[in-house]
Amino acid sequence: MGRMVGSHIRMAPLNGWVKTDNRHLDEKIKIRRYFLDKYPLKTYRVIDCCAGEQAIWGILRRHYPIQYTGLDKNRVDSGVVKIAAERWLRDVEWSADVLDIDPYGEPWPIYFAALENYMGEDLTVFLTNCNAPIKTVRLMSKSVRAKLGIPEKWKIWHSKKISDMATQACLSHVVDCGFEVVEAKKIVLPDRAEWCYMYMGMRLRWLKK
Ligand SMILES: C[S@@+](CC[C@H](N)C(=O)[O-])C[C@H]1O[C@@H](n2cnc3c(N)ncnc32)[C@H](O)[C@@H]1O
Repeated sequence: MGRMVGSHIRMAPLNGWVKTDNRHLDEKIKIRRYFLDKYPLKTYRVIDCCAGEQAIWGILRRHYPIQYTGLDKNRVDSGVVKIAAERWLRDVEWSADVLDIDPYGEPWPIYFAALENYMGEDLTVFLTNCNAPIKTVRLMSKSVRAKLGIPEKWKIWHSKKISDMATQACLSHVVDCGFEVVEAKKIVLPDRAEWCYMYMGMRLRWLKK
């Protein structure tokens, strides 16, 4: 784990990883503002699947009318339910205008649960995806392996190339779930040598069958 320096800066060991909740907060806010402004509502019903410290929506709440529900598998706070978001999205009947998925690694299991259980018409989804160095990340999740057609028994570690492939395959799940992509934007941030963060925003319309 990194060493605390001062009150808010952390030093990471060279080959290690420190989980930082809000790396590149400005970019995260920027892409969210773009979609909130482009598709205005009297009140935005937001489900924040990885609420963390609520840094993002704490800021946005000052500028937009927000009805907020937070989920976080590790935290409980006012307005935040302590639960794995993918479980909540599958078990609870929900509807929303905005869904925010900002985990540390891959957003896909939560994204699949959201698309497969959505009740509504128009939805804006924000995703954070991080391709990270091979030594520091877990095995690829079961749901992503299933999407790529990789047998469960095979041990596949994330690498940049595989993550890129997985990103394409996983994003396309919107179409399988009957959505039309009205608009999509991304911000890609090359970080340290092997790291790559991608922030995405998508405006979706559900074409009911
Ligand atoms: C990068 S931080 C989120 C920062 C947050 N968006 C903010 O504005 O402060 C990632 C958070 O996602 C939570 N998390 C990761 N996977 C999750 C999951 N499957 N379901 C719910 N919370 C999850 C972690 O516990 C952590 O608090």
